Amino acid sequence: MFSGKTALITGASSGIGAEMARQLAALGCQLILVARRTERLDALAEELSKVSVQVITLDLSDPLAPQRLFDEVARRGLKVDVLINNAGFGFQKPLLAMSLEEQLGMVDVNDRALLALTRLFAQPMVERGEGWILNVSSVSAWFPIPGMATYAASKAFVQTLSRALHEELKPAGITVTTLSPGGTRTEFSCKARGKMDPSLEKAMMPVEPVARAGLLGLARGQSVVVPGMLYRFMTGLTRCLPDTWVVRLAGAVMGRHR
Ligand SMILES: NC(=O)c1ccc[n+]([C@@H]2O[C@H](COP(=O)([O-])OP(=O)(O)OC[C@H]3O[C@@H](n4cnc5c(N)ncnc54)[C@H](OP(=O)(O)O)[C@@H]3O)[C@@H](O)[C@H]2O)c1
Repeated sequence: MFSGKTALITGASSGIGAEMARQLAALGCQLILVARRTERLDALAEELSKVSVQVITLDLSDPLAPQRLFDEVARRGLKVDVLINNAGFGFQKPLLAMSLEEQLGMVDVNDRALLALTRLFAQPMVERGEGWILNVSSVSAWFPIPGMATYAASKAFVQTLSRALHEELKPAGITVTTLSPGGTRTEFSCKARGKMDPSLEKAMMPVEPVARAGLLGLARGQSVVVPGMLYRFMTGLTRCLPDTWVVRLAGAVMGRHR
């Protein structure tokens, strides 16, 4: 389905974004790779040189970055068929252990940039009557997490927005899919937690099936994709348990600090 299309992937310099780039390239999809680390993006572009790959270095925490990215894509004469809003990060720290700047920076990348890019790139997709948008959320979107409150709230924003847009943009021929990974072996957890808690390490999924599930869900027109049986069970369970239990449990498992 994505052969001959052009996909723009934010956060393509590592982890889930880089793996999606590899899987899309294998399908014959052209790529626009976006992140801050140019050398990583250049190396990936070289690795995937069988397809056309454009690199755009950008810091998405800058509120002007989404418009700059949209303008740069137009300046290069490219059209984006598939938008993958994957760039994001989180800190596993209590509210008062983080500066306000750190927290707002997280919201700027995880939410503000994602909303702006969705708004900008959806317009020409609607005009063409075709397009695919994959927004990367997290299982954290299902429940508030004491000890990781801002990150979980930022991903709940992604999920709520994207589920609504799935219905809103469907009549215009646009598919909007939310990918909600659980723990996935990428650089994310090192940045979020420092050293990984060994008990959580056991629940981590490799990056390949997570990226594949997201792309497959997008191709099939699914609204929400949760990769892995464990995480599907976990998100299902949150619908059966009382809210207060869910929040306390989430804090005990995912928000604990060492
Ligand atoms: N790994 C997990 O356990 C997990 C679980 C649930 C959800 N997720 C979500 O999955 C997505 C991908 O994360 P990952 O696990 O693949 O982690 P990762 O390996 O750390 O990748 C994060 C990507 O986001 C980019 N990024 C971060 N800040 C940016 C900024 N200011 N401007 C532009 N790009 C920025 C990074 O590129 P540069 O540093 O080069 O800019 C990198 O390419 C995130 O949205 C994350 O919240 C991850």
